[in-house]
This record gives sequence, structure tokens and C-alpha cells, in this order.
Amino acid sequence: TIPVILDTDPGIDDAVALAAAIFSPHIDLKLITTVAGNVGVTQTTRNALQLLEFWNEDIPVAQGARRPLCRPQADAAHIHGESGMDGYAFAPPRQSPLIRPAFMAMAECLQESSRPVTLVTIGPLTNVALLLAHYPDCKTNISRIVMMGGSAGRGNFTPNAEFNIAIDPEAAAQVMESGIEIVMCGLDVTNRAVLTPDYMARLKTQSKTGKMLHSLFSHYRSGSLATGLRMHDLCAIAWLVHPELFQLVDCYVGVETQGTLTAGATVVDLENRFNRPANVRVAMDIDVDGFRHWVEETLALAP
Ligand code: BDR
Ligand code: CA
Repeated sequence: TIPVILDTDPGIDDAVALAAAIFSPHIDLKLITTVAGNVGVTQTTRNALQLLEFWNEDIPVAQGARRPLCRPQADAAHIHGESGMDGYAFAPPRQSPLIRPAFMAMAECLQESSRPVTLVTIGPLTNVALLLAHYPDCKTNISRIVMMGGSAGRGNFTPNAEFNIAIDPEAAAQVMESGIEIVMCGLDVTNRAVLTPDYMARLKTQSKTGKMLHSLFSHYRSGSLATGLRMHDLCAIAWLVHPELFQLVDCYVGVETQGTLTAGATVVDLENRFNRPANVRVAMDIDVDGFRHWVEETLALAP
């Protein structure tokens, strides 16, 4: 199994990614950390705890950054609803978050692990930037960062920037320059990671998880139930267990932090025009059928 820390801002596609991370037989989910993103961090933390309660799992949860490193907070409630997971009435969680903030809990988890840990990030990168700033030595026990974020093409939050990077460009820039191996699953692949209406209808009747996810899907605005929904965050989990479904290109990626119109854009130097060493492995293509097959197989393992 692959030891994993999952940094998330649930979030409807985050909820599906969490299900896959918890129920995949190939992943050992050691810690969940939350960050402000789709909605505020109190709510993303509550959402993560509610999902664990729903599945009766007791993986530790640490609450992370309340706001980006240097910019005001913005959210995506127009995509995920006011609660971040609109559409299902969850029972209140019994588990509480850890006392330590996310970046300290991450450091502790990395220090204690006998094997290098993969950091999977499916929200803004604020917590990871704080971890690297406060505990630079932790790098040695991170095997790689697998992130959902960025784009080699257009954005989805501003014309040029993807949401997770646009919310905290300074944090993303620090992570990209960290020297840690980074696999970037950006919009180039995640816009194509669409669940079909046919499968979503079947999922609804499959299990209590299927029913719950389907209720969330009917409130998720990244596509539509009639034409299919984009499962951005699920791509990072898919790469982890089935890297052969993706084609990666190693190149230099910079994050624009100065632009007044382009802040948060990931500048992906596919033709090596800057002549800088590659720092990111960028997913440029995905086997969509293979992805869908894996999603069905993995979500069928959830109760
Ligand atoms: C990303 O933005 C969020 O709304 C989703 O959860 C995903 O992490 C897609 O751009
Ligand atoms: Ca997310």
C-alpha cells in the first residue's frame, strides 16, 4: 500500500476523491488535512469529519489554514453549494479535529512514518507551503506531491488560472519551486475525467455511498447530471494507483504571482523556451475509459 496524507477542501469532487482514497485497497490514508478553498476551513473540516462519520472511519483530521498566505479568501460556493457539500443531510460528526494545525500534523506524520509518504493535494496549497517553510527537513520523507491543480491551457476560475492555484498563487509557487517531485493533474486531464449520466444513475442504486454521492452530484455545478460531471480531484487518486492511465510530460512550470489579470496561472513550458530544468511532471493525457473503469471498481468497494 501507498502511505498518503490527503490535503483537501471538501468539496463535492473532494468527497469522491476521499471515498476512493479510503476504500482503495492500494492506499494507506494516514492523515486528512483541510484547507480553506471551496468554502471556509471550519466548514471544509466539518465536511471531512461528516464523511468519516458516514463511513464510520476514524482517520485523523487536522484543520489547516483559514486563508491564503497573502491574499484575501475567495471560494467556490457557486459550484459546491453554501456548505461545500450541498445535497445530503449528514449526521453531525462525533470525531473532533486534532489539536495541532494541519502543517504541524503533517510534519509529525512524516517524521513518524517509517516509509516515505505521498502528499496528495486537492485544494489550495497553503498548508503545504506552511509545512515547507516551518519544517524544511520533512522533504526527505515526502516521496512526491500529487496535486490536482493548474492547467497547461486555460483556467476555470479566471481565464488563465485554475481554482486551486488561483486561490493561493504564492503558496503554489513555493511548492512548485521546492525541489520535491511533483505530479500535476491539471485541467488538461481533469476536464475530461467526466462521469457519465448512465454510471451516475447506476451508482445511486449501488450502496449508501452511491446514494449519498448521487445526492451531492445533483447539486454539483461542474458539468451537469444530464451530460456528465467533472471529477477533478479524483484524477490525483487515480494517478496514484494507476499511473499508466496518464501521459506525463516533464517540464518547467512557474506560477504567475505578479499578474493583475493572470495571477495563479501555471506557465507550463512545454517547448522549454525558458531553458530551465524541469520541476513538474505534467499530466497531459488521460485514458478516459480506463479512468471510468477504475472509478466504478473502486467506488463499488464503499459500503
Ligand atoms: C478544483 O477546484 C475545486 O472547486 C475542486 O474541488 C477542485 O479541487 C478544480 O479546479
Ligand atoms: Ca478540491
